Order: sequence, then structure tokens, then C-alpha cells
Amino acid sequence: METIVRKQMIIHPDVMDLLNNQIALEMKASASYLAMASWCDQRELLNSKAFFYKQAEEEREHAMKIFEFVNDNGGSAISPSVNNINNDFDSLRGIYEASLDQEINVTQSIFNIFKTARKVDDFVTEIFLQWFITEQAEEEDKFRSLIDVFDLMEGMPLKMIDERLPKE
Ligand code: FEO
Repeated sequence: METIVRKQMIIHPDVMDLLNNQIALEMKASASYLAMASWCDQRELLNSKAFFYKQAEEEREHAMKIFEFVNDNGGSAISPSVNNINNDFDSLRGIYEASLDQEINVTQSIFNIFKTARKVDDFVTEIFLQWFITEQAEEEDKFRSLIDVFDLMEGMPLKMIDERLPKE
């Protein structure tokens, strides 16, 4: 006899697809931060190295939060393949700028899921995403402030700039 495995699906199917895309985006962000950490590690930029290793961990946690949410609400979370990660960077400043771009992209994607959830009356997802909206505002603000450090210290040696940047 066929076993009934799924509990009732609470989240809307369209929203579930977007959430699965978001899992992939967060895992890609994690892998990108890992590449950035490696670049910094090889150059002994110790604060930036620690910072990006931590960012990589945090993005994985974000992916897992969504992954578990999808399964906990009767959906099917999909483990993503992550590819096309850039490991080649020109400068430390370029890494922080690319990070801000990545965060803006993640924010826009979260907004899109939120709007879709609202449109299809998926209240559970709408409430779930509120944490991510606050988190993204903080992340964008953090990277903008870090890029300001480069403007303030223009012309200073790279290691000196790195020492002014946070480890987390
Ligand atoms: Fe989870 Fe910073 O995006």
C-alpha cells in the first residue's frame, strides 16, 4: 500500500519554488564568501579572512533556516547545486563591493518572495520572511559602512586597512 508521506502543505506551491531558489542563492552566497575568505587568507589579511569565513557560515545558516521551513510546512526542500563561483579578485575593496552587490541581490529576491506570498495569501511565509528582511537591511548597511572605511583610508597600506576592518 502506498504510504502517505507528506503532511498537509501549508505554504503555497509558487512560494515554495521561490523559497527553493532562495536556498540556492544563500548557498551560492556562502560559497562566494568562502572564495573571498580564501583570497584574504592567502594574503594574510587576517581580519577580512575571519570576517568572510564567518559570513560564509552565516549564509549557510540562512539557507538551512529556509530549507527546514519548507520541509516543516509540508513542502519539499531541494538541495541545490552550487556552481559558477568566482575565485578571482582584483582587490580587497573589490571584494567588499562585490559583497554589497551580492547582498542587494539577495534582498531583492527576498522582497520578491515576500510580495508573492502576500499576493497568494501565504501568511506563514510572509511572517517567516520578516526576519530575513530585517537581516538584509542590517547586512547592506554593514557593507556600505565597510566600503566607507576604504574611502577614509585611501592610499594606506592594505594590511593597515585590514586592521581597521572587523573580524565579524
Ligand atoms: Fe543571507 Fe546575506 O544573505
